[in-house]
Amino acid sequence: MNGEVGAVKSGERAPQQGGKRQRPQANMVNVYIMGKRHVVPEHATIMRAIEYAGHQIIRGAGCREGFCGACGTIYRLPGDYKLHTGLACTTLVQEGMSLTQIPAVPMEKAIYDLEKLTPDVRTIEAVYPVTFRCVACNTCSKACPQGLPVMDYIQAAMRGDVAKVADLAFDCVACGLCALRCPAEIVQHKVGILAKRLTGRYLHKESKELAARLKEVASNKFDAEYEELMVMDKTSLSKLYYDRDMEP
Ligand code: SF4
Ligand code: SF4
Ligand code: FES
Repeated sequence: MNGEVGAVKSGERAPQQGGKRQRPQANMVNVYIMGKRHVVPEHATIMRAIEYAGHQIIRGAGCREGFCGACGTIYRLPGDYKLHTGLACTTLVQEGMSLTQIPAVPMEKAIYDLEKLTPDVRTIEAVYPVTFRCVACNTCSKACPQGLPVMDYIQAAMRGDVAKVADLAFDCVACGLCALRCPAEIVQHKVGILAKRLTGRYLHKESKELAARLKEVASNKFDAEYEELMVMDKTSLSKLYYDRDMEP
């Protein structure tokens, strides 16, 4: 974000009324964005509320549909001591919500050569030794907007159960909110990604279907389709994407 709110730029359409909280008009709620009060539609997501308040989000937004993890947000609610976490694009505003969107949680990404690793606890120790600082407080699981059992996958990592980590962390969107709250300063999602890579490389049975498809790709079977896609305009691409066959 940039300007007033991290990756948010100030705009002109802000119905800003700083100062004391007042009863908002029907279908509108008060929210505090970086400490400043705005009146926004009650059914808006946090991301839409930020934009409604007149800001342009230039960092901290990607898919806008809960997949990319770019829009981690922390907030508090009136009369509630808890610091809540959520994704700005999927969490709805509430009356009196006080929020800050976190465009990126700084953390170091380990560099490793997957071909030189083994899918066991020695790799976890070598690549992310910080994992073993876990004090089993479960703060990470409570912070996860995906509802993942984050502590359980970190505990599995400490046991060297790489496949279990990969399984439990499968739906992680790498928002970093767990790492932000962890008192032991562990980078949970990075551990999850490492486990998923190890599992894919060493532990999963070979997929015959994947091997067959790779062979087709190598034989240039899809080249004409790729070329068609590369010159397609945005509207046609979008239509093609949303009209595609999807598994239920
Ligand atoms: S927040 Fe950190 S220390 Fe607490 S359970 Fe999760 S990984 Fe362990
Ligand atoms: S495990 Fe951590 S990084 Fe992944 S979605 Fe949950 S809170 Fe975000
Ligand atoms: S913008 Fe991608 S998860 Fe929110």
